[in-house]
Amino acid sequence: MDYQLELDWNDFLANYWQKRPLLIKRGFKNFIDPISPDELAGLAMENEVDSRLVSHHEGRWDVKHGPFQSYDHLGENNWSILVQAVDHWHEPSAHLMRPFRSIPDWRMDDLMISFSVPGGGVGPHLDQYDVFIIQGTGRRRWRVGEKIAMKQHCPHPDLLQVEPFDAIIDDEMEPGDILYIPPGFPHEGYSLESSLNYSVGFRAPSSREMVSGFADYVLSRELGGRRYSDPDLKLREHPAKIEQHELDGLRNMMLDLVGNPEHFNNWLGEFISQSRHELDLAPPEPPYQAGEVHELLEAGETLQRLGGLKVLRIGDRCYVNGEAMITDQLAAVDALTRHTIVTQELLGEALDDPSFLALLAALVNSGYWYFND
Ligand code: SIN
Ligand code: CO
Repeated sequence: MDYQLELDWNDFLANYWQKRPLLIKRGFKNFIDPISPDELAGLAMENEVDSRLVSHHEGRWDVKHGPFQSYDHLGENNWSILVQAVDHWHEPSAHLMRPFRSIPDWRMDDLMISFSVPGGGVGPHLDQYDVFIIQGTGRRRWRVGEKIAMKQHCPHPDLLQVEPFDAIIDDEMEPGDILYIPPGFPHEGYSLESSLNYSVGFRAPSSREMVSGFADYVLSRELGGRRYSDPDLKLREHPAKIEQHELDGLRNMMLDLVGNPEHFNNWLGEFISQSRHELDLAPPEPPYQAGEVHELLEAGETLQRLGGLKVLRIGDRCYVNGEAMITDQLAAVDALTRHTIVTQELLGEALDDPSFLALLAALVNSGYWYFND
């Protein structure tokens, strides 16, 4: 399904992105759900899929984690099933992410889908991330409050909520409506009828994650072996004090490593192209020969990118799922980053280069791209 989003992206980026929440009525006209509640409930029964069931009864909240065996015990009200990274497991649902590629791919996280019966929701809460919540089938009342300092509490060990808040947006969302919420704005959604919601989530790394990821890179590449040296050491009065110029020298040793563009860019490409959620990898058996990949593309077959796979470009280098794709065929590898479906035309003359073809066959044999028949 080709979802067409009615949104003025320039206006959105200038006035709302990371600044203010926005309700986009009928962002998708004639919205058709890419998944049914039954299919979603089926996914939540799978071991690899990350899912939760949140319910409340007379003010008491409960959270159960999937995989679920059965849903027979559930009543008609006040529960919601939430399934993470559905774009990884259900190809039609992944199509819902595409209209949001005006926000760069590296910021995109996953598609979370929730199914709620009347009264179902996770309660008032804050998120650290930007999210576009799309209303699918059913109506759900969504409220968003102003971003102010708010105390958080846990009505259940696995549930973080905030106190009731005054709404700056309060609407009964209908199919195709979209609610954009930047980080830190309290919000809550209560279903008025059985309802599907699609959360296209974005993520920004923290300094802590980056420092830790960069340290792993430094260790694995055995970088940073140079030791501090001080041949110009002078006699000093205070034996226990580390002098300012020594602090500067030590700090600069660390900054030099991060500041080296080759190390930083390559680390970032590997780090940021890793998916936070499990991929549905199914390497073909038997693996393809490079020649077969060529023949199939020539015969008009197309290669489809695996849902949730991160394929990014930094300078002239492209990365997939934590690894650089080393090749001189920049135009072809760029096509792999830009397009979710690639054809012979998009890959062009690179297909006559045996080393590019070997790379492409390796990517197909890893399960990262598959022939779309
Ligand atoms: C939901 O779909 O119920 C939760 C979405 C959210 O508030 O983050
Ligand atoms: Co939320």
